[in-house]
Amino acid sequence: MSTRVRMLGVQLAWYALLSGQVCRATADPSDSLKVGTIHWSTCTGDGVVPGAECGFAVVPLDYFNASAGVAQIALGRYNATSPHRKGSVFLNPGGPGAPGVSLATFSGPDFQQIIGEEYDIIGFDPRGIGETKPATQCYSSPAARQAFIANTVLDRGYDVAPDVTDEFNRYHLIQTQRDADGLYKSQFEICNETMGEQIRYMGTSTVVRDIDFITTLLDGEDALINFYGLSYGSAIGQYLVNMLPDRVGHVVIDGILDAVAWSSVPSYKWERHWQIYTDDVYKLFMSECAKAGPSQCALSKHANETGADVLARVEAFVNNLYYEPLAVPDATLPGILTNGRARLYILGALISPTSWPSAASDIAQALVGNGTAMLNAVNEKDTKDLERSAVSCNDAAPFAPPTPQVVIDEQLYDLEHVSRFSLAVVTSEPDAGCQFWPVTPPERFEGPWNRTLKNPMLIISNTLDPATPLTSGQLAQERQGNASARLLVQDGPGHTSLALPSVCKAAAVRAYFDNGTLPAVGTVCPVDASPFPSAANTTALLVNDQQLLTSLTRIIDVLFG
Ligand SMILES: *[C@@H]1O[C@H](CO)[C@@H](O)[C@H](O)[C@H]1NC(C)=O
Ligand SMILES: *[C@@H]1O[C@H](CO)[C@@H](O)[C@H](O)[C@H]1NC(C)=O
Ligand SMILES: *[C@@H]1O[C@H](CO)[C@@H](O)[C@H](O)[C@H]1NC(C)=O
Ligand SMILES: *[C@@H]1O[C@H](CO)[C@@H](O)[C@H](O)[C@H]1NC(C)=O
Ligand SMILES: *[C@@H]1O[C@H](CO)[C@@H](O)[C@H](O)[C@H]1NC(C)=O
Ligand SMILES: *[C@@H]1O[C@H](CO)[C@@H](O)[C@H](O)[C@H]1NC(C)=O
Ligand SMILES: *[C@@H]1O[C@H](CO)[C@@H](O)[C@H](O)[C@H]1NC(C)=O
Ligand SMILES: *[C@@H]1O[C@H](CO)[C@@H](O)[C@H](O)[C@H]1NC(C)=O
Ligand SMILES: *[C@@H]1O[C@H](CO)[C@@H](O)[C@H](O)[C@H]1NC(C)=O
Repeated sequence: MSTRVRMLGVQLAWYALLSGQVCRATADPSDSLKVGTIHWSTCTGDGVVPGAECGFAVVPLDYFNASAGVAQIALGRYNATSPHRKGSVFLNPGGPGAPGVSLATFSGPDFQQIIGEEYDIIGFDPRGIGETKPATQCYSSPAARQAFIANTVLDRGYDVAPDVTDEFNRYHLIQTQRDADGLYKSQFEICNETMGEQIRYMGTSTVVRDIDFITTLLDGEDALINFYGLSYGSAIGQYLVNMLPDRVGHVVIDGILDAVAWSSVPSYKWERHWQIYTDDVYKLFMSECAKAGPSQCALSKHANETGADVLARVEAFVNNLYYEPLAVPDATLPGILTNGRARLYILGALISPTSWPSAASDIAQALVGNGTAMLNAVNEKDTKDLERSAVSCNDAAPFAPPTPQVVIDEQLYDLEHVSRFSLAVVTSEPDAGCQFWPVTPPERFEGPWNRTLKNPMLIISNTLDPATPLTSGQLAQERQGNASARLLVQDGPGHTSLALPSVCKAAAVRAYFDNGTLPAVGTVCPVDASPFPSAANTTALLVNDQQLLTSLTRIIDVLFG
């Protein structure tokens, strides 16, 4: 397992998917930028499966202003391998900020196991992201962005005292928040200067228009839209079905972000609803570690200690970092492991249970004074530029700018009552500061979120997702209504149902794409692996299921590995 801890809760697979795929036009340059054309060629870069193609679609930059020019949406395609082709399925890995071309070009055959061989698997880099043009390039280079944030709160996170009610803690956090606000304002002004109006087109509503437009190019005028969105991709899915209810073919959303909160509530108020299971996942990590014992989990000291014992040791360490940051001279970017960075690290580990053995080992090394692995992991920033802000701020409804005191008091409530990772998510998922965003998008969908769909959608939530809780899946299902949405629950930890394999879940997805069959109301699927292999208990599987399990395991590797 090439475990590397992902740093973003609602973002999956940024590095793995960025591995140098370049899409080049082979068409005559004179019409290569004609709106409504698609240009396919072979993919460059490692890891591409035979038969996959790379390319781009030329779409209107602005669907409401034909003279604004064009955008080029980077695409990956893995064709249907069955002669009975049914159409295209668009995939999105979340973020916002994550490119998706390689979901098709690396994992097309594996996704076909789950979705069906009758479908072309289409990956795409959404507006402003990856190889799609225009790209979000507020800074001259990723290094310039790194230099801007280095060792600021945007980089190292917030340090929180062990006693969150401590008055000095509040004062210190408010001071930190003043820095954060100034930094957001400054970086968005930089972006306004370098990108100007180009930065208006990265919002989710525009991405939905692109999926609509490209579906027509690929499958024809009356074709229905098929989509599988993970994490933030579930927001794309919710926008899509409600913007274009009559074009819904098969839509699966997995790891549900509440699209209503996303589009109408300022981000500093989100954690209260996002993180309701985060600390439970943390406790589960520690108890699974204790159960696995010292031979499997580096944080476990004795065969018979409890999860609470392990948790107490890790918490004592993280809390002490508030008073005494750990010097880390041998990291790639040498520095200090602070309380804020340790929280960022652990939050990153919670999203991916398959990373728990290696995360335990990284943390155990830090406990004995070597913070190299932890600091290196948190320093690997997922966003290279402001791709994420470009999506979240174009989507955000205008709101009255909160004072630093208001932001911190909200967070102190969350830290005390919801999750000790509440402030970590503000750094790991940079959606804040949108009051300083300099432009207005051409379109911002704000509902209604209860449209009756041409075909029902399938919603998947885990019982213990640290970033997109089951409650958000239930809300989305209730809003859409019983005739238009069915909820399937996967009984396990991690972020999205692809965090751990479940053959039961995969078979339900397959049946849905095959013939529209929905899982029975109340279906709860077990997972077929446990985070620590010693405790693994794979149920007896049929041969078909073995193949599914293999595909699921490979997808998990691409998304989280
Ligand atoms: C994929 O299918 C399209 C037709 O839908 C075809 O034009 C294209 O050549 C196929 N690609 C490969 C690699 O076979
Ligand atoms: C359409 O785009 C053009 C070119 O960028 C711009 O000059 C014009 O003002 C835009 N029109 C509207 C209505 O925004
Ligand atoms: C494990 O538990 C047994 C029985 O409760 C106890 O005798 C033993 O000392 C414990 N071992 C360790 C290493 O704590
Ligand atoms: C510290 O940890 C890093 C990363 O795990 C490892 O490469 C290095 O050898 C360790 N240093 C010492 C002195 O153990
Ligand atoms: C963005 O740039 C435009 C053009 O230079 C300017 O008019 C506007 O005030 C700027 N907005 C912000 C928020 O800086
Ligand atoms: C949909 O939601 C809106 C409020 O957003 C409400 O006014 C309307 O009655 C709802 N429609 C249905 C069919 O429930
Ligand atoms: C939707 O289905 C659930 C489960 O069958 C049922 O409990 C609920 O009452 C239904 N809701 C509506 C509005 O019909
Ligand atoms: C739908 O497809 C699944 C296989 O994915 C199959 O088991 C099921 O019987 C099919 N249902 C119908 C109604 O055809
Ligand atoms: C796996 O689960 C089955 C059924 O619950 C049980 O019979 C079996 O003993 C378990 N195996 C292990 C290794 O835990």
